[in-house]
Amino acid sequence: MLKSANLRVLVRRSLFSLSLLVRRCSGQSRKMDLSCMRKTYKADEEAFEENHLVSLDPIQQFAKWFEEASHCPAVGEANAMCLATCTKEGRPSARMLLLKGFGRDGFRFFTNYDSRKGKELDSNPYATLVFYWEPLNRQVRIEGMVRRLPRDVAEEYFHSRPKNSQIGALVSQQSTVIPNREFLRQRNVELCEKYKDIEVPLPDYWGGYILKPDIIEFWQGQTNRLHDRLVFRKKTCSTLTETECVQVEDGWVLQRLAP
Ligand SMILES: Cc1cc2nc3c(=O)[nH]c(=O)nc-3n(C[C@H](O)[C@H](O)[C@H](O)COP(=O)(O)O)c2cc1C
Repeated sequence: MLKSANLRVLVRRSLFSLSLLVRRCSGQSRKMDLSCMRKTYKADEEAFEENHLVSLDPIQQFAKWFEEASHCPAVGEANAMCLATCTKEGRPSARMLLLKGFGRDGFRFFTNYDSRKGKELDSNPYATLVFYWEPLNRQVRIEGMVRRLPRDVAEEYFHSRPKNSQIGALVSQQSTVIPNREFLRQRNVELCEKYKDIEVPLPDYWGGYILKPDIIEFWQGQTNRLHDRLVFRKKTCSTLTETECVQVEDGWVLQRLAP
C-alpha cells in the first residue's frame, strides 16, 4: 500500500509531466528570443569618473554606494548579494545571501557551515560577492579570502534574529535532500514546542564568515555601453599585473578597466 505522502508525490509528478506535454503541444516550449530586451542606463554626462569617487579608500566608496542603494526605494534589498564559491577542483557555484555588516576588516554574512557553500569554503577559501542595484545601474564585485567569524559573534547575531528564524536554522540541514515540505513543517512544529519557553541554542553547524577583500570593482552602466569600471586592487594581489594604475590609500591601487 502506498503511503499518502508517496501518493501525493506521484500525483504531483504526473501533473507536472502532463503540464509539460500540454506546453509542448501548444508550442510554449519553443526557444525564447530575448535579443531585443535592452534598457537605457545613464547618459554620458552622468558617467562615473575618477573625480566622482568620494574616497580613495574603496570601503568608504562602497559605504557611499551602499547608502545610496539603501535609500533608493526601488532597490528592494540593498544588502542582497550573490556569493560565488568554488570547489578545489574548480567547479563554481553561486547563490544569493544577505550582507550583515562590513568595514575595513571585510564583509560579513551568516549561513550553515555544512551547506554546499560551507563545504566549498572549507576546501577553497577564495570567494566573490556581487551586488547589483538595478535601478541605479550599479554593480559592485568584491573578491577575497574568506574565514569563519568567532563563535561569540555568531552567537550574538543568531540570538538577535526572530525566534522563528532561529528555529528555522535548526529545522533545516541546509543543502541536504529532504523527502517533502511536510518533513520541514513537522520538524518546525516539534522544535517550536521544544523551545517554547527556552532559548534556542546556536547549532554547531551555523555561523558567520568574513570576506577580506583584495579586489573591489565599481561598475556603472552607460546607455552607450561605454560602462565605467573602476577597480581597486591590493598591491599584494596576484592579479595586479598592469602598470596603468594610481597608488591610493592603505595599500590599494586604482585602475580603470575597459567595459
Ligand atoms: C535574497 C536572498 C537572501 C538570502 N540570504 C541568505 C543568507 O543570508 N544566508 C543563507 O544561508 N542563505 C540565504 N539565502 C538562501 C541561499 O540563496 C541558498 O539557497 C542557501 O544558502 C543554500 O545555498 P548552498 O546550497 O549553495 O549552500 C538567501 C536567498 C535569497 C534569494
